[in-house]
Amino acid sequence: MSVHPRQGTPALLQIGAILSRLSGKEALSEVSRYLRAEFPHFRWVGVYTLHGETLKLSGWDGDQPTEHVEIPIGRGVCGRAAREKKTVVVEDVRSAPEYLACFLETRAEIVVPILDGDRVLGEIDIDGNEVKAFDSSDAAFLGQVATRLIAPARDVVDPPPSGATSSGALPVVRL
Ligand code: SME
Repeated sequence: MSVHPRQGTPALLQIGAILSRLSGKEALSEVSRYLRAEFPHFRWVGVYTLHGETLKLSGWDGDQPTEHVEIPIGRGVCGRAAREKKTVVVEDVRSAPEYLACFLETRAEIVVPILDGDRVLGEIDIDGNEVKAFDSSDAAFLGQVATRLIAPARDVVDPPPSGATSSGALPVVRL
């Protein structure tokens, strides 16, 4: 399965619309929900943000919650993507020794870092239920999604002063 450009382009527009009205964790949760609803091979979608040496789950959508709400950067497929600042595609989780199991049904995983220049702000983590569920088209599409998640991830990692938003808009006083 894959993400065809015919699907990817409108999806990026939808994500842009979500990000124009939401910020921070709300935005990360809503984008997770949208991605899972739009792409059936995305069976569990999460966004982790990086706090020091720990990845923390800041938004997700799936049938079940994961027990891995915090992952040290030294562990798991998620840790590797953050350490190496690279997208990691696992074709079959049963042959990936560092894989941290979340769900019995999971067979494949893709983790795409959210990079702000050289700094890792977090990552998109997606599980699939079939071996080789993800290919280079998923990696390319999710790379584009990741660039759009820089602002909301920054909101979570370095919270803006209260009232300010990542869009740069000043707080509004209503009289
Ligand atoms: N499998 C991941 C852990 C997160 S769960 O997939 C939600 C890993 O190996 O890092």
